[in-house]
Amino acid sequence: MSKFPKKLVERIETREAKNNLRILPVRNDLVDFSSNDYLGFASDVGLRDRVNSFLGNKPFFKNGATGSRLLSGNHPLYHQLEQFLAKYHGYEDAVVFNSGYDANIGLFSSVPQRGDVVLYDELVHASIRDGIRMGNAKAYKYRHNDLEDLQNRIKRIRNTLKNLEIYVVTESVFSMDGDSPDIRELIRFCNRHSLHLIVDEAHAIGVFGKGLVPKIGGQHQVFASVITFGKALGSHGAAILGSTSLKNYLINFSNSLIYTTGLSPHAVATILMAYEHLQSPEGIKSQERLLENIDYFNSRIEKLKLREMFLKSDSAIQIAIIPGAEQVKRCAQNLRATGYDAKPILSPTVPEGKERLRLCLHAYNLQSDMDQLLHVISKAKDG
Ligand SMILES: Cc1ncc(COP(=O)(O)O)c(C=O)c1O
Repeated sequence: MSKFPKKLVERIETREAKNNLRILPVRNDLVDFSSNDYLGFASDVGLRDRVNSFLGNKPFFKNGATGSRLLSGNHPLYHQLEQFLAKYHGYEDAVVFNSGYDANIGLFSSVPQRGDVVLYDELVHASIRDGIRMGNAKAYKYRHNDLEDLQNRIKRIRNTLKNLEIYVVTESVFSMDGDSPDIRELIRFCNRHSLHLIVDEAHAIGVFGKGLVPKIGGQHQVFASVITFGKALGSHGAAILGSTSLKNYLINFSNSLIYTTGLSPHAVATILMAYEHLQSPEGIKSQERLLENIDYFNSRIEKLKLREMFLKSDSAIQIAIIPGAEQVKRCAQNLRATGYDAKPILSPTVPEGKERLRLCLHAYNLQSDMDQLLHVISKAKDG
């Protein structure tokens, strides 16, 4: 084996010195306050049974997709899923990708062209930033959820550059802060200034029904929405929702769709059945329970006077800011010792000094566990 390059060793050592080395955690049996399985679908036996009987009734059988969707991998379930997604979420069309990461790099690397500009919220997900970096357009970030800053940047760009398309990118629920932009206002703003708005709805789907764009009837006013199935839907994969022209474009130019093996029939069937499950009485009950838990959690934050420590969030992602890698890791360790799994988020995922505990609430979390969890976290506030 060749010698591991010195430069790489140094990067790892720097991480170690800063106490923010990443490792792959082993699975545990702690109470889950860390996964994105907001509705509990990932381990729902009823959903697994639905998938098995759905596939059992199909005339074709394949364990794998067998190739790219553009070659042999476009099995009939893809068509069924894309038709369903467009109708259910209320968009003209849908195109399924292997993951949210693939969808974002495929979209942002291929759509904005040289000479165009992408303006993205400073807190957008790494997959969006990676996609933008792979493309040829200029890109600038604007301050988090700050329409005024966005407007100033657009003025400056329009004063210097002509004949360009401008893309504005945001998330409807931010993955590391749990908060949301004012989507209605953003859509109005983008319409007024002829901007193409792209909204990543990964953490909104299933938590806020069909997503926050459909909630205000904005589907035909955004350029595209990205939805993912690995979070509240408890499965895997993603889709870009938008116009049929966009779909045709992506099929032709989006490398992360073209040059990869498609999802297996089982994976696509799981997504279809997860949607069926979402609309079933059990699925509706899970969504109600999740919203009740979010309300309860927020009420306890107020009651325990922890508001200053927590970011304001009505979503399933709740954030306790505990500055310092050492401090936030200690708090997570105390939680583990009490039986709770909550992940510390360190630099460089978030800026140094803004380290945090990322708590994910679920339909299946108990109020007594949320109480106990907050009790342990409140001790970090007192040092
Ligand atoms: C906002 C956002 N977009 C996209 C993704 C990527 O989705 P996936 O996990 O399906 O690759 C994530 C994943 O955490 C996310 O938080």
